[in-house]
Amino acid sequence: MARNKIAYACADCGARSAQWTGQCDQCGAWNSIHPETPAASAAAAHEPAALHALSDIAISDTPRITSGSAELDRVFGGGIVPASLVLLGGAPGIGKSTLVLQVLGHLSRTAKVLYASGEESAEQIAMRARRLGLGDADVQVLPEPSLEAVLAGVAKVQPRVLVVDSIQTCYSSALGGPPGSVSQVREATARLAEVARQQGCVVWLVGHITKEGTLAGPRVLEHMVDCVLTFEGDDAHSFRLLRASKNRFGAVNEVGVFSMGEQGLVDVANPSAMLVSRLGGRRPGSVVFASQQGSRPLLVEVQALVDPSAAEQPRRLSVGLPAQRLHMLLAVCHRHLGVNLARHDVFTSAVGGVRVLETGGDLPLVLALLSSLRERTLGEKMAAFGEIGLAGELRPVQRGQERLREAKKLGFERVLLPAANCPKREESGLELLPMREIGELKQLIGL
Ligand code: TYD
Ligand code: MG
Repeated sequence: MARNKIAYACADCGARSAQWTGQCDQCGAWNSIHPETPAASAAAAHEPAALHALSDIAISDTPRITSGSAELDRVFGGGIVPASLVLLGGAPGIGKSTLVLQVLGHLSRTAKVLYASGEESAEQIAMRARRLGLGDADVQVLPEPSLEAVLAGVAKVQPRVLVVDSIQTCYSSALGGPPGSVSQVREATARLAEVARQQGCVVWLVGHITKEGTLAGPRVLEHMVDCVLTFEGDDAHSFRLLRASKNRFGAVNEVGVFSMGEQGLVDVANPSAMLVSRLGGRRPGSVVFASQQGSRPLLVEVQALVDPSAAEQPRRLSVGLPAQRLHMLLAVCHRHLGVNLARHDVFTSAVGGVRVLETGGDLPLVLALLSSLRERTLGEKMAAFGEIGLAGELRPVQRGQERLREAKKLGFERVLLPAANCPKREESGLELLPMREIGELKQLIGL
């Protein structure tokens, strides 16, 4: 019965195996298999689970905690839920530490807060706080990577909100394995989840993101938390989009928009106005897309460059737009519009570091491709949205009315859209150009 053989686990997806292999069977990652150390607390005795009749369970109406940023509250679905476990992911340098410090600074006026950082020294944290104008904020700082030290800090401070920056550097000396390994991250998260539950404390974990855009460390982490927030955006722009990819207390894909400046992160109240540059629609290849991000309509500039290729294999590159969608749309253009781009390089991008996740971007993308190919502008007062099917048909997308309202609000005059999204009564104050199939483009706008 001696079963203390070493088990292995994948650092990327958390899949377990009995043997070491070079590549994970589950997720295909290379060199991600590491020995796993059994958790010391695994043998702890369990209380019998409490049984409840669903109808008897009382629901406490605890008010949400306002973070001090309307954009952040929106992403949470109306403020932070007390005693929740939140994971904030993002590439290095995008502003995770800045955001959590700003939130703690705001909350410290009314509640006890603790900032545990295994990434930076107390001095570095204080320097950032001064830069953010939070030098005097009543934030308790614990520059310690040790999980035991964090738990002791929580016991002492009894904070309402605890931030652990980052979960990958947090390690328990009771376990083997380096910080950031599967067993370490999983154990630290489980222990911190217990803190959230037992002490009614919000626990906010900061997590690193790999180059591929997934959270570094086991994916099981995402299953253990209540909310997963991800920072998007690139270094070239001061824009930062915060997206909830998981939220047990609100809608997913809700987006908050910030800009990073001298004073840290600032809410952007009217992001559409900033995302649609002054050039939007005025140059060949540029089209304004009336997109929907969670519950928020957002105008985004979509660009394309179509250029004869000298290469054997023409290049296709898309930034912020799904690449598979581009390939599909190129085939649709060929079949249903007779536009053959097989000998052209095609580059597409969503401006401002925005990621377009919905199919409503199909029509604007095709417009941008044609506009670039024919070197014709669409006119600055025109916006578009709509999904395109493989048969070349225009399919409706969600929340058409809200998209139209946003376009109107920002001074647009004409909108190209799927016929099924066209409001019955003409009250939008816009010139609407409804389409049933992609072939109608020629007759509608001469492209
Ligand atoms: P940081 O919060 O340290 O990023 P992360 O924790 O995600 O790695 O942000 C670091 C970047 O933000 C750094 O490049 C400097 C910039 N920054 C500003 O532009 N303004 C500011 O007020 C602060 C604090 C940082
Ligand atoms: Mg940081």
